[in-house]
Amino acid sequence: MQNGWDESAAAWIADMGEDGDFGRKYVLDAPMMQRIQGQGFVDALDVGCGEGRFCRMLRAAGLAPIGIDPTAPLLDEARRRDPAGHYRLGRAEALDFPAARFDLVVSYLTLIDIADIDSAIAEMARVLRPGGSLLIANLTSFNTASPPGGWQRDARGVERFSIDHYMQDRAEWVAWRGIRIQNWHRPLSRYMSLLLANGLQLRHFEEPLPHGGPPDKAERYRRVPYFLVMEWRKPGG
Ligand SMILES: C[S@@+](CC[C@H](N)C(=O)[O-])C[C@H]1O[C@@H](n2cnc3c(N)ncnc32)[C@H](O)[C@@H]1O
Repeated sequence: MQNGWDESAAAWIADMGEDGDFGRKYVLDAPMMQRIQGQGFVDALDVGCGEGRFCRMLRAAGLAPIGIDPTAPLLDEARRRDPAGHYRLGRAEALDFPAARFDLVVSYLTLIDIADIDSAIAEMARVLRPGGSLLIANLTSFNTASPPGGWQRDARGVERFSIDHYMQDRAEWVAWRGIRIQNWHRPLSRYMSLLLANGLQLRHFEEPLPHGGPPDKAERYRRVPYFLVMEWRKPGG
C-alpha cells in the first residue's frame, strides 16, 4: 500500500498498547460506547479496525463485530489478541458483504485514512440494515486543515494552531512516534453531503472534550477542535 500503514504497523501497535492513545482513551471511547449502549445492536462491522481494540470493546459489550482492514500486520495482531474474534482483510471502498447485513457500522478514525471516500461512504450505507446506525469518530476538518505541525509559535512565543486551504481536499504525510502515514483532509461539508446523499439521517453530533489524562495534554485538546462523533441512521426498519 502507498499510504504508509504497512511500514507503520509495528509502531502503531506499540503506540496503541491495550488502552489506546490519549484521544481514544480520554476523549473518544466514552462517547462512542454511549451511542451503542442500550440500542440493541448485535451485528457490527468495524471498518478499518486496525489492531482490533474497538472490536474487542464491542465484543465485551455483547455485540458480534467483524473487523476489516487492508493492513495485514494489524489484522495479524488483532487475531493474536482476540483469537475468537472475526477479522478480515478488506477495504472500505468495496465491502465484501451483502446489503443490509449489519445493525451497526463503525468508522473509528478511519475516514481520514480512506482515499476514495465517495465509494467508502456509499458502501457503509449499503451494508447497514434499515434502522441501523453508522457511528463515526473522526478528526475534525478544522484539525486536518492544519499544515503538518499545526502548532507553531508566533512572534511573541505564544503557541498558535494554524489552518489553511480549508476547502481543498488533499492527502498529507503525517508522522509521530515512529508512525508515518498519509491522512486525508476534506472540508466537513464533503463528508456531510456524502452521508446525506446516501440517504442517511443525522441522529447525533458532538465535539467531545477530554475527561482526564495528563492535564497539559488535555489543555491542548481543549484549545482547538480535535474530534467529532456522529451517529447517522439508515431510515426504515
Ligand atoms: C488511524 S487507524 C484507526 C484504527 C482503528 N479504527 C482505531 O481506532 O484504532 C486507520 C486504519 O484505517 C486503515 N485503512 C487505511 N485505508 C483503508 C481503507 N481504504 N479502507 C479501510 N481501512 C483503511 C488502516 O490500515 C488503519 O488500520
